[in-house]
Amino acid sequence: TADLHDIGGAPVVIGAGVAGLMTALHLAPQPVVLLCRTPMGTEASSTLAQGGIAASLGADDSPELHLADTLAAGDGLCDEAMVRRVVEAIPRAIDGIISLGASFDRTLDGALLLGLEAAHSRRRIVHAAGHATGRELLRVLVPAVRRTRSITVLEGIDVLRLIVSAGGIVGVVAARHDGVVALPTRRVVLATGGVGGLFCDTTNPLTSFGQGLALAACAGAELADLEFVQFHPTALETAHRPMPLVSEAVRGEGAILVDEHGRRFLSGVPGGELASRDVVARAVFAQLEAGNRVFLDARQCLGPKFAKRFPAIEAACRQAGIDPAVEPIPVRPAAHYHMGGVAVNAEGRSSVAGLWACGEVACTGLHGANRLASNSLAEAIATAVWVAESVAGTGAGWQWSRLPTIAPLRPDPSSIRRLASNALGIVRNGNKLREAITTLLPIAVGGHAAADPALVAMLIAIAGLRREESRGSHCRSDFPGREAAARPSRLTLCTAFETA
Ligand code: SIN
Repeated sequence: TADLHDIGGAPVVIGAGVAGLMTALHLAPQPVVLLCRTPMGTEASSTLAQGGIAASLGADDSPELHLADTLAAGDGLCDEAMVRRVVEAIPRAIDGIISLGASFDRTLDGALLLGLEAAHSRRRIVHAAGHATGRELLRVLVPAVRRTRSITVLEGIDVLRLIVSAGGIVGVVAARHDGVVALPTRRVVLATGGVGGLFCDTTNPLTSFGQGLALAACAGAELADLEFVQFHPTALETAHRPMPLVSEAVRGEGAILVDEHGRRFLSGVPGGELASRDVVARAVFAQLEAGNRVFLDARQCLGPKFAKRFPAIEAACRQAGIDPAVEPIPVRPAAHYHMGGVAVNAEGRSSVAGLWACGEVACTGLHGANRLASNSLAEAIATAVWVAESVAGTGAGWQWSRLPTIAPLRPDPSSIRRLASNALGIVRNGNKLREAITTLLPIAVGGHAAADPALVAMLIAIAGLRREESRGSHCRSDFPGREAAARPSRLTLCTAFETA
């Protein structure tokens, strides 16, 4: 760890998942400071990312087909130009990752083995070690970052606030083991991941409560489409949190969803088990609400081949006492991905000068109302280079300054999880959203550990209350219809409080 006084002036990247690491690498040889809460590679959602990277590499595939599938899943809210840019860039970006040393699953003749996931019309999921794709990316990215002399990595740092003056970023306030410090900088990239940690059932690290959104909101940045939280239909039913994911790719291989009597309940739905994620999650949720248990049955399609094809998932099942080769796997939906985020343009720039966002914390317009599986790692690796190019222009000499010793208050979402799960879950209604906003507001401004998580949950609730329709992952029992015209949603902290 470098001395803080050596690194003033450099851009600051917050977060060490795939988006943050790749942004820092693309900035090299420009100096950059990478701040993360825990040692790199240990906490980011990327470590848990299964599926893989969606890329139109198959002989029967094309960026045009990938674009069409992404737009269809996004339910009217994708930014078509952004989708096109990403789907065209991703095949080349995969070559870049391979040249860093990533090893993806291949056929016997050496071609990339492409998996199938829900709502993809072609096999196009590049994956590693069965389905430990995020882990494989971090396996190569973390050492690459450590080897790069222009990147200063500071671990054990919790960023508490961005400092803004005259509409632009002028610094970062962060907590370290020895107190609170301020780092003047005019360029900050948020790469802080999603919001799953706000929910009781989640596949995300429990610390992923939307810290980047809280930072951006308090800096005055515009936030987009916050109401769209994706629930993965098939998290492994276990007491373990985060919940292990039973990848959609298992359904891609033919596994079926059944109730406790072995009855398949999606056969009448177009696409069946491979309908879009929002549709499958709601169907599973409806079964659970009706008092049934839900299982993913891979015995017919994979049976004894399960362990070889999905070793990490098999290990998680075994740990829960289940042998997926001979038993159906108990599953339930879990908060998995946030389509909304900091509103950014094609370079990842937010509405605040000097503030960029990359990866899940950003809303680029790629995902719309419902993300297509494996488009998130694709987005992170395709967009990090554009963000880095955009950041690369400016700089100034600054120094860290130590603030008067203040005991750092590390954010903790645990006390609001039940409330958030209840109000912001798969099916929402106006009364619950209003009640949640009323309860969360005093916590959000109350200066305790749950304040930032409560602020993020409240902003999601406000966005959800304002969207009086059901679209993509946002389902309102009091507004089940879908408006004819798709309307993106935008808010800032100021405009949100007009509602609160
Ligand atoms: C999965 O493998 O089912 C998850 C992949 C993703 O969320 O993109």
